[in-house]
Amino acid sequence: LENFTAYNPVKIHFGKNCIEKLSEEIEKIGKKVLVLYGAGSIKKNGLYKEIISKLNTINLIEVQEFSGIKANPITEDVDKAAEQIRKSPVDCILAVGGGSVIDSAKMLSIAACGENPVWDFYEKKAIPKKSIPVLAVLTLAATGTEMNPYAVLQNNKNKSKQGYGNPLLYPVVSFLDPKYTLSVPLNYTAYGVVDLVAHSLEHYFSPYKAQLTDKFIVAIIKEAMDFGTKIVSDLQNYDLRERMMWAATNALNGTTGYGKKSGDWGVHGIEHSLSVLFNVAHGAGLSIVYPAWMKAMKEEIRPILVQLCIDLFHTDDVDICILQIEKFFQRLGSPIRLQEIGVERAESSKILENLILNKVTGMHVSLEEKDYISIINHMFSVS
Ligand code: NZQ
Ligand code: ZN
Repeated sequence: LENFTAYNPVKIHFGKNCIEKLSEEIEKIGKKVLVLYGAGSIKKNGLYKEIISKLNTINLIEVQEFSGIKANPITEDVDKAAEQIRKSPVDCILAVGGGSVIDSAKMLSIAACGENPVWDFYEKKAIPKKSIPVLAVLTLAATGTEMNPYAVLQNNKNKSKQGYGNPLLYPVVSFLDPKYTLSVPLNYTAYGVVDLVAHSLEHYFSPYKAQLTDKFIVAIIKEAMDFGTKIVSDLQNYDLRERMMWAATNALNGTTGYGKKSGDWGVHGIEHSLSVLFNVAHGAGLSIVYPAWMKAMKEEIRPILVQLCIDLFHTDDVDICILQIEKFFQRLGSPIRLQEIGVERAESSKILENLILNKVTGMHVSLEEKDYISIINHMFSVS
């Protein structure tokens, strides 16, 4: 095992009607709340009304709102919300949504405590000293952001989408009620399964042996391969949603990383370029990139890839294994080639340019221009 620190301060309330505890958790922090949410799915599925009625049970509560956070969230929205908080300060931020809303809330929680544009943190021009407490009500199982210190934002000006990590970003409390994910449409349900599998794979491809952690990783991937294909044809199945929610949290809350130093994150870096360039959903990008990365980097990752194949499919034939993973993503209904999301081969140079601009590489599997070209070819290949 590589040396590690196991620390995760997030309190998780998991299960049916767990937001009954929302008011008491907020009262411990204060009375002035900013509710942050997206384009309105929470109004359609009734959660918004439930949240507001819970908040109104708190004496002297003052509720502000900031809505319109986009899928693939952008810096401008966070900077605007930070302006709003600087003008009328709050005691806490209540993020109600998926990864885009919760990541925006996390970055807002540090940006609002100073004057810097939020991207300064990504460029290490600003170091956060404090944060406004964030409470999260999760409505989409995928990223694990509800229980980790990371946040991903997109800067459209310099065509970059990056992750940022700092212990100040851990939510104080997260509420995970699977019933709020019943309304997630088929596509984002499939993308969520891909994302949690990808987080597990990113850690699996760390070359450091950590027996128990490696078993946790394989268990999460197998769990996803079991419920994944069932859930996409049974979206209203609470039990399957419950399994998916808890698997997604564990795929990126430390459980898959202890003793492994860090995940590789090269595939995520490539996917972020696709999201910046084509506004593709994160999970859809990952189901295209992962098989292509495995094929292009086969020789560099062979020993670990063979072990993954044995763990998952009881074969040491890496080509069969990669095909099985591709077929699994396809069975979910997630794309495995760029053409499926309307990106044509003529865009190859644009992708290559963005990968070079953002110096995309893995922590363990380094990527050079020749690798970018090979991965792009596999993302377009018709075979
Ligand atoms: O905006 P609303 O109306 O809420 O609609 C959203 C959005 O259109 C909708 N949605 C969310 N919950 C729903 C729902 N629709 C119906 N019913 C519900 N219950 O789904 C769409 C996608 O939401 P989004 O939050 O973008 O999805 P996800 O949770 O997959 O988050 C993706 C973002 O997380 C980042 C990604 O890069 C991407 O920006 N990630 C964050 C990570 C982290 N912080 O640890 C790690 C991940 O690797 C990932 O990079
Ligand atoms: Zn991800």
